[in-house]
Amino acid sequence: MNIIESLNWRYATKRMTGKKLPDSDLQTILDAIRLSASSYGLQPYNVLVIESEELRKQLQPLAYGQAQIVESSHVLVFAAWNSVDEAKVDEYLQAYSETTSMPLEKILAFGIKDRMMQAIVSLPQDEQYHWAAKQAYIALGTGIVAAASLEIDATPMEGFMAAKVDELLDLPSKNLRSVVLLALGYRDAANDFMAKTPKHRWSEEKLFMHI
Ligand SMILES: Cc1cc2nc3c(=O)[nH]c(=O)nc-3n(C[C@H](O)[C@H](O)[C@H](O)COP(=O)(O)O)c2cc1C
Repeated sequence: MNIIESLNWRYATKRMTGKKLPDSDLQTILDAIRLSASSYGLQPYNVLVIESEELRKQLQPLAYGQAQIVESSHVLVFAAWNSVDEAKVDEYLQAYSETTSMPLEKILAFGIKDRMMQAIVSLPQDEQYHWAAKQAYIALGTGIVAAASLEIDATPMEGFMAAKVDELLDLPSKNLRSVVLLALGYRDAANDFMAKTPKHRWSEEKLFMHI
């Protein structure tokens, strides 16, 4: 399938079969998420990969009983950094320096740290979190497209009680807050009322404004 066929094929699957993803496909989706673009490249989030059936059973009521949580193969929890401090920026710039073999002094001379401090670290804490959450959504989108390219179903899910999920997964102690989930698995077409529903989107004319 080409990219448009893959995107037409995918839909937010409501019922899944429980079949497990091959490790290599899961790895490809995680690689795609890791390769996502993010503002300043900071990737201010973590992604929890949940396979445990027991944990997914505990998660289900916190997601209003949605079946995909337990019928999927894995549930990814995109969790944004609750705050972004100078130490995180320093850790990132140090790691960037090592990956690119660009001396840290040279990176600092470009003024990148100053800009990151001003644009992110100086924000009130809740705005830091919202900025981080926006970056997490970009990774979510990348993961959805990657899954579709492999003909793996993926359901993005905001329908869950974030504070309770945070508590279950002990996220506050890690400076994290859950933002959105991605259930990965295989559609149960016979039992999923959405499986044959035509895809609805705004028309090109309504969506795009060529100016
Ligand atoms: C951020 C986000 C949150 C969503 N939350 C849920 C959810 O909790 N449960 C669900 O079944 N679908 C959820 N959806 C799926 C959307 O309803 C779906 O993507 C949209 O209706 C377009 O349809 P399609 O993705 O099936 O083409 C969510 C989608 C996004 C992008």
